[in-house]
Amino acid sequence: MAIYPIRTFPDPVLRSPAADVTEFDEDLARLVEDMLETMYDAPGVGLAAPQIGISKRIFVADIGEGPFVMVNPELVAVSGSWTFDEGCLSVPGRFWPISRPAYAKARGYDVAGEPVEYAGDELMGRVLQHEIDHLGGMLLLERLPRRDKKAALKELREASLENPSRR
Ligand code: NI
Repeated sequence: MAIYPIRTFPDPVLRSPAADVTEFDEDLARLVEDMLETMYDAPGVGLAAPQIGISKRIFVADIGEGPFVMVNPELVAVSGSWTFDEGCLSVPGRFWPISRPAYAKARGYDVAGEPVEYAGDELMGRVLQHEIDHLGGMLLLERLPRRDKKAALKELREASLENPSRR
């Protein structure tokens, strides 16, 4: 097992759509174990492969009910609305109130290539949407209202100029 460094804004891998996984093999199983270890070490409730620089459609999560993984996930249903102070390991230490559907349902595959489905309200719904956004190359910043997004991007760019070693 290994803990990967987590890529942070403005690393371009975070803005690139990830590729579908085609091989459900030992390498995938090892990567998923490493992603879980990296997520728990951070700590975070979810981690998508692009956040460790691997542009593949995989995420792991644990909202306190045990770990799960989704490979090649797609959102198949969303409903309602919920505003939550959302953060991201790739934009460390920042939280913004973001409105999204309260409920989400996603379908994908487990590490063995078997179909899986996860669904839930509030935190579960939020994690599914947030992690699947990562796989499309989208950060939570893109979900902010236009004016808040502009202010947040300016603040983050200035912070990264002041401290370029943080990427
Ligand atoms: Ni994130």
